[in-house]
Amino acid sequence: MLITFEGIDGCGKSTQIKLLQKSLEEEGFNPKIFREPGGTKVSEEIRSLLLSSENTIDPITEALLFSSARSKLISEVVKPSLDKGDIVILDRFYDSTIAYQGYGRKSMSLSDLHKLNMIASHGLVPDITFYLKISIEQSEQRRKNLTKDRMENSGNDFYSKVITGFDDLSRQEKRFVVINALNSIEDISKKIKKKVMVTLGKV
Ligand code: ADP
Ligand code: TYD
Repeated sequence: MLITFEGIDGCGKSTQIKLLQKSLEEEGFNPKIFREPGGTKVSEEIRSLLLSSENTIDPITEALLFSSARSKLISEVVKPSLDKGDIVILDRFYDSTIAYQGYGRKSMSLSDLHKLNMIASHGLVPDITFYLKISIEQSEQRRKNLTKDRMENSGNDFYSKVITGFDDLSRQEKRFVVINALNSIEDISKKIKKKVMVTLGKV
């Protein structure tokens, strides 16, 4: 089973992924967790290039670099894990490319980006996508003590387009579960666990 988490920066993905990992381990599962971009040596190096504020990267190069990091992660570790029957949890996947590089940067047409996503993901489609929905103001509040990376320096206009992208995807894709990211960490975690357990046939 492939579970992905999406939403703008600071929405609470990492927090919820750790809690879901713990819940699944308590139930006897051994979930594999990866972040995008990242999860392999090459993909982590591409992540550093993409996030370093010292780099200027045009929108098409950016879309291709996120896709390269993805292809390496999926072929090298995610597909083999899924083939073994593991539960894989991804901190971001190709929906981020639609929201950030499609709606945010307008790097290429959405249909071209969908094709690129299918190539870079080797045809994988998540079983569940949790979209943690939060406003720009709240996400900034949560990240106010952190240094901004290259993506986070893109400004509020950019982020508001990214949110529109995730909102549109959540209406188009049945696999999306929209979660109000302003609820308490515990409430969100219970909701996520319940959805996963139902999908696994455990309740
Ligand atoms: P992301 O991985 O999406 O960037 P994090 O999980 O790192 O987000 O969370 C960003 C910050 O917000 C952290 O300081 C975290 O403790 C806090 N946080 C996460 N979820 C909530 C929540 N539901 N309510 C309040 N604060 C939260
Ligand atoms: P991440 O570390 O998950 O950010 P955060 O923890 O702050 O939410 O992701 C790194 C950045 O890369 C984030 O700003 C979103 C961006 N990104 C894209 O623009 N396109 C993509 O396809 C992916 C996977 C991430």
